[in-house]
Amino acid sequence: MNILPRSLFQFLIIPMELSLILLSPSYAKTEKDKPMNDIDRVIRPEKKQVLVLTTGGTIAGSATTDELEYKAGNTKGEDLISSIPALQNMAKIHVDPVAQIGSQDMSDTILLKLAKKVQAAENNPSISGIVITHGTDTMEETAFFLDKLINSKKPIILTGAMRPTNFISSDGASNLVNAVKLATRPEAYHQPVMIVMNDMIYDAHSVQKSHTTSLQTFQSPNTGPIGIINNDHVYFYRTSSNARKHIYAIPEKAPFPRVEIIYSHIQMDGDLIHDAVKRGAKGIILTGVGDGNTSTQAIQALKEVASKGVIVVRSSRTGSGFVNRNVEVNDDANKFIAAADLNPQKARILLQLILANKINELDTIQQLFYEMN
Ligand code: SIN
Repeated sequence: MNILPRSLFQFLIIPMELSLILLSPSYAKTEKDKPMNDIDRVIRPEKKQVLVLTTGGTIAGSATTDELEYKAGNTKGEDLISSIPALQNMAKIHVDPVAQIGSQDMSDTILLKLAKKVQAAENNPSISGIVITHGTDTMEETAFFLDKLINSKKPIILTGAMRPTNFISSDGASNLVNAVKLATRPEAYHQPVMIVMNDMIYDAHSVQKSHTTSLQTFQSPNTGPIGIINNDHVYFYRTSSNARKHIYAIPEKAPFPRVEIIYSHIQMDGDLIHDAVKRGAKGIILTGVGDGNTSTQAIQALKEVASKGVIVVRSSRTGSGFVNRNVEVNDDANKFIAAADLNPQKARILLQLILANKINELDTIQQLFYEMN
């Protein structure tokens, strides 16, 4: 990342570039005719600076052998950005390649690195907005993680692609162009961390990937999207929901406290629950049936581990809705937490942050799960 201090721009570069412009025969062209170049960037102070943190994913993927096979994340961050010339007309882009992975391999170490870079960019007055390119498979988890850590004033936007660069109707370039566009818009300030895909804007709290391959895979089943991008127009359907009550401290180290997700099904016993605790789980997220329920045997196992201090959170495998306390399951008696509207993978991230922030009191943890934004 190479961000020149404002004073250097004003006193060294601008006079130098202006003299170059005056000597250039192409200066006679109208503003509209001229392609945007470095000189334009210097003399147009309104041009926003956007930091693009790249992590890999299908947006940085290309086909390897035949039409259906491709490798996520095999394109370098700088090459991804330079392959989309339109971006240079929209903002001054600073690329910072953080990782080059398929998002199934996202790790606590990379999340931590990402959070520190996003926080640094939030604190850097030269940067107007932050875009993160990311695989779509775990994008909602990274977005949610950042949303809980960064008290965002500037736009923080994650985007990716469902189809790699060299597939027919690849969506990566348009998604990235939309994300950078949004990162320069004043209406995107004071919003939660956002995901932009397929022209829609979603908030990190309620968005989830909902289809294996469709371009319209992201959905917010409980609330709907928060906005839409239509060519040059950006519309937000609702006012900012950035009035978060709790911003967590960025964890000091990775890996974060171990929290396992256990999926409920017919004929479920308690073995996986006890095994998870034996392997060091400090928390268990139950992906429960229906309203966060599970078999009598599994409830018994969860009750046993909860009584030993493991934090048990009940969420649902249904994909939408809320899990509230003491409806089908007696959370008070069992010392369980209800996940409210969080899906299991986000409940896991939240519990990791809670535990990394050394919050152990059950009532407080329940309040933090009921906090919706
Ligand atoms: C990934 O999540 O890295 C692969 C799939 C995708 O980006 O759509």
